[in-house]
Amino acid sequence: MFGVEGLMKKDFLSILDLSRDQAQNLLKRAAWMKENDFRSNILEGKTIVLLFEKASTRTKVSFEVSINHLGGHHVFMTPADSQLGRSEPLKDTARVLSRYVQGLVVRTYGQKNLEELARHGTIPVINALSDEYHPCQVMSDLLTIHELTPDFEMLKIAWIGDGNNMAHSWINAAARFPFKLHLAVPRGFEPGRDILKRAVDLGADIKITHEPREAVHEAHYINTDVWASMGQEEEQKTRSQAFAGFCVDEELLKEAPEEARILHCLPAHRGQEITDAVIEGSSSLVWDQAENRLHMQKAILEWIFKQVQAQ
Ligand code: CP
Ligand code: NVA
Repeated sequence: MFGVEGLMKKDFLSILDLSRDQAQNLLKRAAWMKENDFRSNILEGKTIVLLFEKASTRTKVSFEVSINHLGGHHVFMTPADSQLGRSEPLKDTARVLSRYVQGLVVRTYGQKNLEELARHGTIPVINALSDEYHPCQVMSDLLTIHELTPDFEMLKIAWIGDGNNMAHSWINAAARFPFKLHLAVPRGFEPGRDILKRAVDLGADIKITHEPREAVHEAHYINTDVWASMGQEEEQKTRSQAFAGFCVDEELLKEAPEEARILHCLPAHRGQEITDAVIEGSSSLVWDQAENRLHMQKAILEWIFKQVQAQ
C-alpha cells in the first residue's frame, strides 16, 4: 500500500507486526528517548488523527503529547462528533482522512475495524486498543520490565485474570521476546485459541492454568487487568462472580517470590482484580508503566514515520 507521499506505508495493529529485532530495538530506543527527554521534528508538517470509539486517559493524552514532542499536530475525533456516528462507512472515512492527514491512531471494538481502515486508507494506522489487542500498552509494559531486567531470557511473567485484549498482546509479545508467560484465567475466560496457537507455533513459551497460585509461583512480574473490559459493562456482575479468587491481593502474593513486581495497565478497580494495598505497595510499577506510554509511543511513531521518510 502506498501512502500520500507515494511511499510504502507501515501499520502497527499488533505486536506481531514487529519482527523480533524491531521489537527489541523499539525497547532500546524508547529507553533512550526517556533518558534524554527526546524531542524531534520528524512529524513537522504532519497531522495525525486520533479516532477513539472508547474512553481513554493514558492513551489519548500520551499520544497527543508524543505527537507534539515529535513536532506534529493531532486532531481528536469520536464517532459521536463525526459522520461515523451517522453510519458513514469506515472505508469511506479511511479514504477521506488519507487525503488530509498522515496517520491514524485508532481505539475501537473489533480488530477488523482497524484492518478495514488500514486496507482502505493510504496512511499508517496504529492500534490504540481493540477488543482483541492493546499492543502499545504491552510494549510500554515491556519497557518498564526492561528498565529493571534488561535480559528477558530467564524471566517468568504471570497474567492473572481475563483472557482479554491485554492477555492477547502479552501472548503475542511472548512470540517476540524470550520470557515465559504463565496465565491464570477462570474457566470460560481463556484467551483466543487461534491467538494462542499462533504464538506457540512461533516459539512462545506459554502455560495456561485456572489456578492463580500456580501462575505466580516463581514469577518475576505479575500482571492483572479489569475483569470487564470496555464494551463488557453489562457483564460486570456475572464476571465478578466468575473471577472470585483471581484478585491480586497480599494473600496471593505470599505464593510469589518476595521480589516479584506488580503490573496493571490501569484504570484499576481496587477491591476487584487488585487490592488497594497491592497497587499502592512498594512492589507496584503502575506509575512507571503509565509514564512509559509516552516514551514508547514516541518510539513507535518514530519507527513508523522514519520508515516512510527513509523510502
Ligand atoms: N491503559 C490504558 O490504555 O489506559 P486508557 O484507557 O486511559 O488509555
Ligand atoms: N482490558 C481493558 C484495558 C483498558 C486499558 C479494556 O479493554 O477495557
